[in-house]
Amino acid sequence: TGLTALDYGFVNTAATKSDITYIDGDAGILRYRGYPIEQLAKNSSYLEVAWLLIHGELPTADQLGEFDEKIRRHTLLHEDLKHFFSALPHTAHPMAVISSALSALSTYYENAGDPNDPEQVELTTIRLLAKLPVIAGYAHKKALGQAFLYPDNSLSFVDNFLRLNFGNMAEPYEIDPVLSTALEQLLILHADHEQNASTSTVRLVGSTGANLYASVSAGINALSGPLHGGANEAVLEMLGRIRDSGEGVQRFVDRVKNKEDGVKLMGFGHRVYKNYDPRAKIVKESADQVLAQLGISDPLLDLAKELEQIALEDDYFKERRLYPNVDFYTGVIYKAMGFPTRMFTVLFAIGRLPGWIAHWREMNEDPQTKIGRPQQLYMGAAERDLPQR
Ligand code: CMC
Repeated sequence: TGLTALDYGFVNTAATKSDITYIDGDAGILRYRGYPIEQLAKNSSYLEVAWLLIHGELPTADQLGEFDEKIRRHTLLHEDLKHFFSALPHTAHPMAVISSALSALSTYYENAGDPNDPEQVELTTIRLLAKLPVIAGYAHKKALGQAFLYPDNSLSFVDNFLRLNFGNMAEPYEIDPVLSTALEQLLILHADHEQNASTSTVRLVGSTGANLYASVSAGINALSGPLHGGANEAVLEMLGRIRDSGEGVQRFVDRVKNKEDGVKLMGFGHRVYKNYDPRAKIVKESADQVLAQLGISDPLLDLAKELEQIALEDDYFKERRLYPNVDFYTGVIYKAMGFPTRMFTVLFAIGRLPGWIAHWREMNEDPQTKIGRPQQLYMGAAERDLPQR
């Protein structure tokens, strides 16, 4: 039409207005509803942040208590849904398991999250927050070939999740406050990041009137890619490969710079941050602390630090303003906690869930929302006739 601007990757196009998250990528600033990420990560809880993102203000003590209580009451999965896991191979990637299980979950609820029914939307919000951690714990247990545990609703959100992953039927689960505190903080750091690929996916799918289960399930699939949430898994694999190959950090960095086989420094670079990712700063400190508290020394953490040091001093990375992002150090912590590499992106998904819900709700409440429908510049053949037959 002549009016259509070509914008690969939406680098220059805003698809919406939003009140939820503010990022200044040059200054390395991230705020949820105006509150700096550093303050939230240190002093808040995952459920408080979830409420804040979804409702716009911090909850009162009563609101938070009621929210927590409701989520605890909705953790159980329908027994039939457990059979769903038996249909999948134990080698299934847990991201595929949780996205399909969420889609399947919607079949249990009539009017599943009808966007026009505020009560349904609230109920679906609670159900998703309550059940995704259980589904994730089962995806983990499935891979291990171990029995699924019922949630223990006397436990906090994070401890319940840890028990579902690391507890067993034979003995009581012992809470480790080091794990609980570290995981709570990591979930908060991942809770929202404005219009990233998975959140934009949730909004695009939701803009068609699709329900919250379907939209979040699509978001999980978008998150799974190695350029997005899948990077935390890819970072650990990269560190392992560097260690096992014995090629040395400098040689690996040279290969990245020469773009040999398209190899990238995973966990580095960001579309928005052209400065140190503020989340990565917090995670780096926490990696040292958590490993020390757990009494673990992991050579991969030393390797990551060496890699970061070399990259930060190298012109290739300086010129392109490539800094560590949130995924660079998270994997080392998840590994120390005992999670297998393939569960890392699932942890990101649980963290990001409140953000996806908040954006889906904001979009549905905005009277200006239209179905998302990007344009294209057609570059194909002009009209032509089929050969005579
Ligand atoms: N290693 C090596 N070179 C890189 C990297 C990297 N990690 N990231 C970007 N570059 C180069 C890129 O090759 C390009 O170079 P040139 O100008 O010579 O062609 C230049 O830097 C600009 O990069 P881009 O690909 O145009 O930047 P983008 O904004 O499209 O991509 C990104 C952002 C995050 C996809 C990219 O930096 C990347 O692939 N990083 C590695 C994967 C990763 O860690 N992803 C997690 C992102 S943070 C968590 C989340 O929100 O998902």
